[in-house]
Amino acid sequence: MSERLIIRGGTPLEGRIKVPGAKNSALPLLAATLLTDEPVTLKNVPPLKDVGTMLSMIQQLGKRIEKPAPMTVRVTGGIETNRAPEELVRKMRASFLVLSPLLGRVGEAEVPLPGGCNIGTRPVDLHLNGLSRLGTEISQTDGRIIARANNLQGNEIFLDYPSVGTTEQLLMAAVRADGETDIYNGAQEPEVRDLVDFLVELGADVEVDGSILTVRGSEELHGGEYEVLPDRIAAGTYMIAIAATGGHATVGEVRPSIMKQLTLKMRKSGITVNEGPDSLEVISGRRPKNLEIRTLPYPGFPTDLQAPVSALLTIAEGKSVVKETVFDSRFGHVAELRKMGADISVPNSSTLFINGTDGLRGAKVEATDIRAGASLVIAGLAASGTTEVVGLGHIDRGYSRLVENFQDLSAQLEKKI
Ligand code: UD1
Repeated sequence: MSERLIIRGGTPLEGRIKVPGAKNSALPLLAATLLTDEPVTLKNVPPLKDVGTMLSMIQQLGKRIEKPAPMTVRVTGGIETNRAPEELVRKMRASFLVLSPLLGRVGEAEVPLPGGCNIGTRPVDLHLNGLSRLGTEISQTDGRIIARANNLQGNEIFLDYPSVGTTEQLLMAAVRADGETDIYNGAQEPEVRDLVDFLVELGADVEVDGSILTVRGSEELHGGEYEVLPDRIAAGTYMIAIAATGGHATVGEVRPSIMKQLTLKMRKSGITVNEGPDSLEVISGRRPKNLEIRTLPYPGFPTDLQAPVSALLTIAEGKSVVKETVFDSRFGHVAELRKMGADISVPNSSTLFINGTDGLRGAKVEATDIRAGASLVIAGLAASGTTEVVGLGHIDRGYSRLVENFQDLSAQLEKKI
C-alpha cells in the first residue's frame, strides 16, 4: 500500500519555520557544475527527491559528490560520458539542462527527451532553436536528442517566450561559445538570476539588463563556492497555508524582495503580511477576501503558486478568478479540491472561477503534481475533519521536511504506510 498523508485540519498554524534553498535554483546550478573540472561547493542545497535525481545524473556523467555538511554538496571530477541516462531524464524535465554543459565541453551530447511533472505539453523547441542559433546541429532518433557543435558560436537570440529552462540552457551554452551571445526576451525569474551569479562566481562574463542577457564566452570556468537562493515557492506555500488556517506564523530565511507578487496579493485579500529583513510574518484572523490571479513569467505571479493560492481562494469571501497563462494544463488540483467541498468551475482550459465557501471538509484526495499536492495539503490543513492525501511522491519532489515543518507550526498531520 502506498504512503498516505493523514491531516486533521482546523488548527490555526502558529510559530516559525525556515525554508531551504530553491529547488529550481539548485537543479540548474548542479547541471552547471559540469562546466568545470575544478571543485564546486554548493550550500543551502535542499534535500529533495528532484535534487537527488540531478545528483545521480551528474554522478553518472562522471562527477563525484560529497556531502561535507547538511545541505552542502561538493562536486569534483570531470565528464566521463556525454550520454545522459534515459531513466533520469524521463523522471525530471530539469535533467535536460545537462545538454548544454555536455555539448559545450565535449562537442557532442546525447540526451533523451524529458519527462517530469504532468502539467501539459512541455516541449523543448525553444531550447533546441536557441542552440541551433549558436551553431549546434541537432538530430533526433528514438526519443533522444543528439546535439553536435565543434565550436559553439555566439549569436543574437530572440526567445518567442521567456522560458526559464531555455534561458538557463542557453546561458550554459553561451559561456562556452566563441564571442558574444545576446539573449533577448530571456526569463527574469530569480532562479535564472541565481544561475547567472553562480556562473559569474565560476569566472563567466555575463551581464543582465532586464530581459536581455549578454554573455561573452570563455574557454574554461574555474571552481568556486556558492549558496543557493532561498525557495520562494516553498516559502509562499507555507505563507498561504498559514493564511488558510487563520493562523499567525513566520516563514524565515526568505528573500522578501522576490516574493512581492504573493505578499501584495495576500494583503489585498485582507491578510496581514509583515516583512522582516529575511522573514515574512503572516497574520490571518478572519476569512480572506476574493482575488483575481493571473500567472505570468516573473515578475508576474508565479505559476508554481497557482494551485496553492487556489486552495486558499476556495474558502475566501466572494468569487475569485484564476487565469493560468504559463502552462496549458495545470488544474490537476481542481477535481480533488471539489471532493473537499470547493465550488470551482472551469469555463475554459486556462481559467478557474472559484466561489468561496465558508469551509472545506476532509476527504480522500490524490496529488497529481508537486504544486497540486501542496494545494491539497493546504486545503486539508484548513478543512474540518480528516483529509487523506495519496501521491506523496510528487510532493517529495519539491518540498523537504513538509510534514515536520507543518508539525512545527502545530498542525496535526502524519505520514502512514
Ligand atoms: C521552470 C520551473 C517550473 C516553473 C516554470 C515556470 C524548474 C526546474 N522548473 O520550468 O517549476 O513552473 O519554470 O515558471 O526551474 N515551453 C515551450 N518550449 C520550450 C520550453 C518551454 O513551449 O522549449 C513552454 C512550456 O511548455 C510552458 C512555458 O513555455 O508552457 C514555460 O516553460 P518554462 O519557463 O521553460 O518552464 P520550465 O523551465 O520547464
